[in-house]
Amino acid sequence: MTPKATPEQIDAYLALFANNPYNAMVAIKEHVQRRSAVTSESISAPSHSETAIITAQSLTKTYKLGRQRIQALHDVSFTIYDGEFVALTGASGSGKSTLLQLIGGLDKPTSGEIIVNDTNLNHLPDAKLSTFRNKTIGFIFQFFYLQPFLRLSKNIEVPSMFAHTKRSIRRLHVKELIERVGLAQQAPQLPKQLSGGQIQRAAIARALMNNPKILLADEPTGNLDSTNSRAIIELFKQIRAEFGMTIVLVTHNPEIAALADREIQLKDGTLI
Ligand SMILES: Nc1ncnc2c1ncn2[C@@H]1O[C@H](COP(=O)(O)OP(=O)(O)OP(=O)(O)O)[C@@H](O)[C@H]1O
Ligand SMILES: [Mg+2]
Repeated sequence: MTPKATPEQIDAYLALFANNPYNAMVAIKEHVQRRSAVTSESISAPSHSETAIITAQSLTKTYKLGRQRIQALHDVSFTIYDGEFVALTGASGSGKSTLLQLIGGLDKPTSGEIIVNDTNLNHLPDAKLSTFRNKTIGFIFQFFYLQPFLRLSKNIEVPSMFAHTKRSIRRLHVKELIERVGLAQQAPQLPKQLSGGQIQRAAIARALMNNPKILLADEPTGNLDSTNSRAIIELFKQIRAEFGMTIVLVTHNPEIAALADREIQLKDGTLI
């Protein structure tokens, strides 16, 4: 049985969405409806819309390293639809992290276009790019680390501290997300007291803090055993079903990739 949102949570969501350009009430209503409609079938069923949310057109990325030029991506084009869960795979050095950085607006392509949530990222000045990232993207980085001296709850709160959200509302949201990823008991602990799987759950909670539309995860199961890896993928699927977000997940592991709706494969910087 999925619990309904409490009036307190609804207030918190209202405040969180207050600065967003779309209607707060609609967003809350949709989330509450989705939550109550989530069943075990809807979690595993691929359920995305026909609306493109990420479009890459002839993306090329060349890094300059002294005199050397490294072509990390070459003529990469694809479309990812709103609500899709896509696995991005390929050997080490094939360009996966580079592509994720372009999708997330952390870096710009050398040529080609990247359109995310109806915004052409090439045309955004840096200040607007950072607003775009805060509002639209949740990152789980390949080398995710928690601040060793901050308790888990504080670590998760950090990204929202820059988003002008009231402290009491932030705390409520942190509490909800920590419970959501199954770490309520670990909230007061320091990172060194957490397992690898718990750290990945913390990374997911932190990425969800600003209610992103798109979750980008770089090898979130990289150093986990197969049981913990599957549990993390299940958590992603539940979150997708509840929040209706789009997920792009980088993995080396074909078994993990097979759990996504679709696989996009890179080889030496090109799609195969
Ligand atoms: N900042 C950078 N400067 C120069 N070269 C880079 C930079 N980042 C990545 N590269 C190069 O671009 C290519 C693609 O790297 P990328 O990190 O995207 O690969 P990857 O598929 O994520 O690999 P892995 O699975 O090992 O994480 C590699 O040859 C890499 O050495
Ligand atoms: Mg990488």
